[in-house]
Amino acid sequence: MVPSAVPAIPNLDPNSLAKFVDPLPLPAIAVPTSHRSVPGSSGRQVPVYRVAARAVTQKLHRDLPATPLWAYGDSVPGVMFDVRAGEGLAIEWANELPSKHFLPIDHSLHGAEPGVPEGRSVVHVHGAKVPPESDGYPEDWYVPGQSRLYHYPNDQAAALLWYHDHAMGINRLNMYAGLFGLYVIRDAREQALGLPSGKYEIPLVLFDRNARADGQLSYPVSADPGRPWVPEVFGELHLVNGKISPYLEVEPRRYRLRILNAANGRFYRLSVPDGVDVFQIGTDQGLLPAPVAVKHVLLAPAERADLLIDFAPHRGARIELASDAFALLQFRVGERPVPDPSEMPRSLSSLERLAESAAVQTRRLTLDESQNLVAESTGMLLNKTPWHMPITEKPVLGTTEIWEIVNLTDDTHPIHLHLVRFQILDRRRFDAFQYMTQNTLRYVGPVMPPDPNEMGWKDTVRVNAKTVTRIIVPFSGYAGRYVWHCHILEHEDNEMMRPYEVVRA
Ligand code: C2O
Ligand code: CU
Ligand code: CU
Repeated sequence: MVPSAVPAIPNLDPNSLAKFVDPLPLPAIAVPTSHRSVPGSSGRQVPVYRVAARAVTQKLHRDLPATPLWAYGDSVPGVMFDVRAGEGLAIEWANELPSKHFLPIDHSLHGAEPGVPEGRSVVHVHGAKVPPESDGYPEDWYVPGQSRLYHYPNDQAAALLWYHDHAMGINRLNMYAGLFGLYVIRDAREQALGLPSGKYEIPLVLFDRNARADGQLSYPVSADPGRPWVPEVFGELHLVNGKISPYLEVEPRRYRLRILNAANGRFYRLSVPDGVDVFQIGTDQGLLPAPVAVKHVLLAPAERADLLIDFAPHRGARIELASDAFALLQFRVGERPVPDPSEMPRSLSSLERLAESAAVQTRRLTLDESQNLVAESTGMLLNKTPWHMPITEKPVLGTTEIWEIVNLTDDTHPIHLHLVRFQILDRRRFDAFQYMTQNTLRYVGPVMPPDPNEMGWKDTVRVNAKTVTRIIVPFSGYAGRYVWHCHILEHEDNEMMRPYEVVRA
């Protein structure tokens, strides 16, 4: 671990703040500002939205002064897209950010060299199947005063996606500052299930931050002023939809909770008290085949969980959603019984498991950590290859591949591929020392299937320490240049990201 410098003004003690005093905010829904025909819409008019990234202030807690943040729209998380599968749209992403950053840029990182504009930004919709020119390639950033019109075909199944900044070398800072929001796609199949909807469907965006008593965000820095980058950030303040430990009044009936881990580096291990039934019905890329009863839900950065929770047996109760010892959100269940027309379907989707034989090739890719002489992390790599090296992964459009991800490090890394969705095949422990010294893969544990709540389509997968994780990936949609990376943002910004290219046969 790199030692962190002590901040000049100390961070706020989270125990000094009263819990459950602020109501849970819900993100505003984006509305289109015009309609026009865009390339690829064959003359049809599509809705056009405009979203500006800009500096805002926001009260994170009743007893804190307002905190300066960067937001898409008026608040963090940003304005929420609620759209239908098959109905394309365009978004004008405007960069109205200040030209100076308020968080510590590390100019020794690739893409963040001195002189590169600090207010740069580019938007990526995580989990969306979009043409490469609208995907938000990290080097496609643009400066304050500029905007880009991106097209989203929404030609994919119902799922909770999200959008966020992806600017090269400062992505972790832009997202810590608040540049992310939700993007939900709905379809007729999902609607036919009769799941709780409207005010009974609650988006929950989880993230952690550190702040000072004056409300200012604080981002940790290393002890080396020339290289302030730190390998991981954990905040002591736990926010849900932009408030610290808020509460939500609910009726005694079933609710659908759509949860995103938007933290830079924290993994959430969600739970509610014993006796409260929770079922997971969906994951990153949509519905599971059937509901899975869950006791704990582990969410790495960028993973999503779609949960059903039934408050009917708990009239008048106060129920905490926690992550290990941290209280995230308190549900206050109403006293009076209410009718509940929603359903708890026994089957959700007809998802088929992909056969390994469908893959035309298997790629072995390593996750690596580089350390200096005193065992401090100096950065992470994918396949020992820095960002700027020529593209090595070139799957053919329309084919399926197996990616065998060999984690040589001591951390779990949430690995994300743009453009595609995939299924997890299995995980297996191996002898990392032998791999590093003799370059041979010797397994030391049994083949572990994915957890029942990982059996759906995913776009981000936890690759555990000293474990080989295999995913099977159909490369469909578009040819062109995309990226894959670790979604611990400090890793991503320090070389744990690589371009890949989908090529035509
Ligand atoms: Cu959340 Cu490169 O993505
Ligand atoms: Cu993505
Ligand atoms: Cu990582």
